[in-house]
Amino acid sequence: MNQVPVAIVTGGSRGIGKAMADECMRLGYRVVLVARSVRNLELARRELTDKHAPDAALQPDIEAVDVADAEAVKAAAGSIILRHGRVDLLINAAGVSIPGTLELDADTFTRLFAINLRAPFLFMQAVLPHMFARGGGRIINIASRNGKVAVAGLGGYSASKYGLVGLSEAVYRDCAAKGVAVTTICPGWVNTEMAANEGPSLRPEEMIQPEDLAKTLRWLLSMSPSVRVMEVMLECAGDVERRASVELARLYALKRRHEAEFSAIDVQAAL
Ligand SMILES: NC(=O)c1ccc[n+]([C@@H]2O[C@H](COP(=O)([O-])OP(=O)(O)OC[C@H]3O[C@@H](n4cnc5c(N)ncnc54)[C@H](OP(=O)(O)O)[C@@H]3O)[C@@H](O)[C@H]2O)c1
Repeated sequence: MNQVPVAIVTGGSRGIGKAMADECMRLGYRVVLVARSVRNLELARRELTDKHAPDAALQPDIEAVDVADAEAVKAAAGSIILRHGRVDLLINAAGVSIPGTLELDADTFTRLFAINLRAPFLFMQAVLPHMFARGGGRIINIASRNGKVAVAGLGGYSASKYGLVGLSEAVYRDCAAKGVAVTTICPGWVNTEMAANEGPSLRPEEMIQPEDLAKTLRWLLSMSPSVRVMEVMLECAGDVERRASVELARLYALKRRHEAEFSAIDVQAAL
């Protein structure tokens, strides 16, 4: 039996997934990077190998698969487990963000759900029996702040992430007594290609950095086995501040309106 712990990281070729794979390697895991682009997978493998794994046996393994394809996901998960003989950690980070709510066509809506929700479901379904058989393991699902608070214009994405938050919470409870810890991470804007493509109002340096997700992983893995962390929400300080000042401005406007209405009432006459 392979003595080195194995981590599968979907979306591991760039962004959040790559930062988490980097941290896994730092912590001594053999990682399996999953994404579609073989070129990006190879680039990530080279970068992580140069940084952490001069020993060929510890270099990242790569699996090119489109996680929108259910049968391909099942086959890929099966072949990873067969190759490595064990899975200690699963990080579901592959995801896409497509703007739109009711104006989305049904195929795009279905695609969002296939990638952001069904793929994590299928990967969990594939690895959990092996984790139970070994008496433990850990799953981390990257949802989003949009899976906790929906925003206008992003309804399809939000719905898929709300689904992932719900699924993940149920699996967290299902696994509680079986030694497998499941955590959902719900970040706000993270400084990756996905965020850059959406043109957010924050500057890159004002966003959460992918390394912050890696630090969250390190923190989770440092907990005693008796601890379970169901959910972690990370917000951008600038976003919190902006929302708070909008709320405050609204409250002050309300106060001024009430004061004006109150002073307009002829109190003596009313008595
Ligand atoms: N960035 C943010 O602001 C933010 C905030 C909250 C949550 N999130 C979530 O965090 C996760 C990672 O996001 P990110 O910002 O790192 O995104 P990213 O930079 O766009 O990276 C996405 C990763 O997922 C892979 N991927 C996308 N579609 C895939 C498919 N159909 N099959 C297989 N792999 C696929 C990509 O590789 P290929 O393209 O080669 O397949 C890539 O490795 C996502 O689930 C996202 O929803 C992001």
